[in-house]
Amino acid sequence: MTQTTRAPIETAEGAHTREWLRRFQRVRNASEALCAPLETEDYMVQSMSDVSPPKWHLAHVSWFFEAFILSPYLDDYQTPDPAYDFLFNSYYETHGKPFPRHLRGTISRPTVAQVYQFRAHIDQEMERLLSAPPAEHLDEIIDRLEIGLHHEQQHQELLVMDIKHILSCNPLHPIYRQDIRERLLADADQAPADQTFNDKAPRWHRYAAGVRQIGIDYPTEPAREHDGQGFVFDSETPRHRQYVAEFELADRPVTNAEFIRFIEDNGYSRTELWLSDGWSTIHRTGWQAPEYWEKVDGRWHTMSMGGLVPLDPDAPVCHLSFYEADAYARWAGARLPTEAEWETAADDQPIRGNFVENDLLQPAAQNERAGDGPQQLYGDVWEWTGSAFLPYPGFTPLEGSLGEYNGKFMSGQMVLRGGCCATPGDHIRASYRNFFPPQARWAFSGIRLARDV
Ligand SMILES: [Fe+2]
Repeated sequence: MTQTTRAPIETAEGAHTREWLRRFQRVRNASEALCAPLETEDYMVQSMSDVSPPKWHLAHVSWFFEAFILSPYLDDYQTPDPAYDFLFNSYYETHGKPFPRHLRGTISRPTVAQVYQFRAHIDQEMERLLSAPPAEHLDEIIDRLEIGLHHEQQHQELLVMDIKHILSCNPLHPIYRQDIRERLLADADQAPADQTFNDKAPRWHRYAAGVRQIGIDYPTEPAREHDGQGFVFDSETPRHRQYVAEFELADRPVTNAEFIRFIEDNGYSRTELWLSDGWSTIHRTGWQAPEYWEKVDGRWHTMSMGGLVPLDPDAPVCHLSFYEADAYARWAGARLPTEAEWETAADDQPIRGNFVENDLLQPAAQNERAGDGPQQLYGDVWEWTGSAFLPYPGFTPLEGSLGEYNGKFMSGQMVLRGGCCATPGDHIRASYRNFFPPQARWAFSGIRLARDV
């Protein structure tokens, strides 16, 4: 493609492009900061097929900018290696053949150093493009840049999840960061030694029946005129009406201590609590507790980014499949909220919580109430809903290869809401729909109860 006109840097549009460049640099730096504590050997491990090696994440998010921005819009762009377009394509079949996901851990070359060089190359070329963007494609470039940045933020959360799983497979319980360990041990010291809960039953918030507006429309203003907060994925659109019957929502997530009671009440052995798929899954896998839980000297511990630490009884329970969340809810005489109920409750709540910026990378007990609404809706744990990930009425995927981003996964997945302790705080909103298969446990997934009135 030929570049004919260029947006002069001194115009308002040029200033705006510079702001996007700064945002690009912030997001790119955050990915590398998450990997800074890793040893070279950690970068290559694929501990299960759902996990990608950290090296692959770092390369793939860079490939995204190459494939969707630099190759189409920077006319003299040169890739460091044409094979990267195959190796680091995740699942964009209309773009080209992707490398098989389950084999990502077999690729020792390019090396970690070469992947960092690839990142530096992409950064440099994006800076070159954004410092003199072709004016006739500026809107498309900024739209794709914005998706690329949210994509990289999604992978930052995946990096934390995957690094945790990789380290958890090692019986030495490696410590990702010592300072996280010290913070978690200090919290555990304050908890009762017998891991009993302080026995505050959840409070319930009641919501009236009514026709609710669910989802969101694309921002009416072009993204380049926004501060970046107007971004939405296609799967959150369009805004539409849904009837929501009267319901109640618990004012906090289910805690570790509450889940221990479920275990001690033989929750994993009582067939009446389980969906058929869940029952067969726990028999096939032998699950008797959430992922990462281990009993040491009679006390429950959990793997964290600070190694193996005693479980904090008041912290939200985490690393559960949808099946376990559903069985727990039934045991507790409640149910999981639908995503429309969750969004109804979250709509007027401020977006604050234990996000990646808190730098604990672990769900935490909240000791002080913040505001009158349900607590910890955002951050800590993604909350399983009882809703399948399906298109909203009138859903239209993005055009071209980016239409593969969400739409083709609308089968066999359940929706989770609210973000977690590994989510960037400026990456979450009330309408955000995360999704995982019902058996997935390595995400920071937890439970909030709902019930009919
Ligand atoms: Fe991706």
